[in-house]
Amino acid sequence: MKLFTRQNRILTTILSKYNFSTAPKSVSSIQIKGQNFICDDYTNVTPKMISYLGRNLHLQKNNPLSIVRQRIVNYFYSSFTKRGHPAFSVYDNLSPIVTTKQNFDDLLIPTDHPSRAKSDCYYINRGTLLRAHMTAHQSELLRSGLDNFLMIGDVYRRDEIDSTHFPVFHQVDAVRSQRKEELFIGKPDLEIFEPSYDQENAHAYVNSIDDPMKQSCHTLEAAKLMEGQLKSHLIGLTKVLFGDDIKCRWVDAYFPFTHPSWELEIYYENNWLEVLGCGIVRNEILVNAGPSRNTIAYAFGLGLERLAMALYKIPDIRLMWSTDSGFVTQFENVDLNEDITYKPVSSYPQCTNDMSFWLPSHLTIDTFMSNDFYDLVRDVGGDIIEQVKLKDKFVHPKSKKHSLCYSIVYRHLERTLTQAEVNQVHKEIEKAVVDAYNVVIR
Ligand code: DAH
Repeated sequence: MKLFTRQNRILTTILSKYNFSTAPKSVSSIQIKGQNFICDDYTNVTPKMISYLGRNLHLQKNNPLSIVRQRIVNYFYSSFTKRGHPAFSVYDNLSPIVTTKQNFDDLLIPTDHPSRAKSDCYYINRGTLLRAHMTAHQSELLRSGLDNFLMIGDVYRRDEIDSTHFPVFHQVDAVRSQRKEELFIGKPDLEIFEPSYDQENAHAYVNSIDDPMKQSCHTLEAAKLMEGQLKSHLIGLTKVLFGDDIKCRWVDAYFPFTHPSWELEIYYENNWLEVLGCGIVRNEILVNAGPSRNTIAYAFGLGLERLAMALYKIPDIRLMWSTDSGFVTQFENVDLNEDITYKPVSSYPQCTNDMSFWLPSHLTIDTFMSNDFYDLVRDVGGDIIEQVKLKDKFVHPKSKKHSLCYSIVYRHLERTLTQAEVNQVHKEIEKAVVDAYNVVIR
């Protein structure tokens, strides 16, 4: 309880600095894009995060993320047509503010699933958050009657800080549904559903996922045919992006909203790199979206940053946000399918300062929330924070006091930082950490 009051105080301080509307004594509401939200014990979204809303890098003409987005959309437009028109519709401007129902419940994510944790998401309040994946829009679009669609946008997750992680990134998520006549062309005797599945009573059917090959409601023919389509479409996409020689492999996976589920990995710079998650949509989701559907669907989600970094050899995820002309011009007016290799403009030196502190008696090295700490560091230090690494944990043998040491790596992408200015920022972070957690700097 005490900790929460303290965090709230920092939030109030930060919010007032950014001129967000705050109630006189404690934070009771936040304005985001003209909408008022009541804060509660789940509120952990920071003004820094709110400032990313609406940047829409995936729609900025010369941004590498936008180039990859267009290539993916073109692949789906040209591969699937219905009477001469693209069979897929594209939604790339949906609001990133979603309900917990959209982000979790509609997708059958259990109430105790770790992905719901406050330490992993940016909550506006108990019922509202910045979407953690684009799959959050799957149910509402199905409910609106769509069967084939792409959802593209910015997603928000609390995470560590390094060259490949940033709390905002971009995803393409998709659903492709097939009716019996589309799936089994010329084979009218084959069925999507097992005889034991009564479509009229779909809500009452208990759909089991014990069989690794399929959901109990589906026939093996339908599940296998859909799996085949899903895999060949996604390998097709990967080859269009990376060329025919790219090495790929499928790995069995688990997602609460699909069964069976897989991840696709590509062999890139001597490592297997996971590029997407996918699977056959859980029938309960389709039933909840409209009980009369006689369809089976596959879905997938991929991260645009990963793909763009691998395709164009961009070494640091923060570069996507750069407005520096040295970066931007390399992606200006390019042909979508051109081979582009990013050339580092120059690499300015990094500065590393350590921060060690004793925890107050109510915290231990195991209960201290690193993600809260990372957010605080980023809020105070801004974009010059390149990485925060846990360097050492220590329990004093006599006093039993717990101590942590983090290394903070500072680097400006566009100029050299002086040690003096880094020290100044480092001091400000120390002060904020002392205020937030009542720690004692060593
Ligand atoms: N939403 C998942 C994530 O962010 C990715 C994903 C997996 C999306 C499977 C899907 C899917 O649509 O079917 O990690």
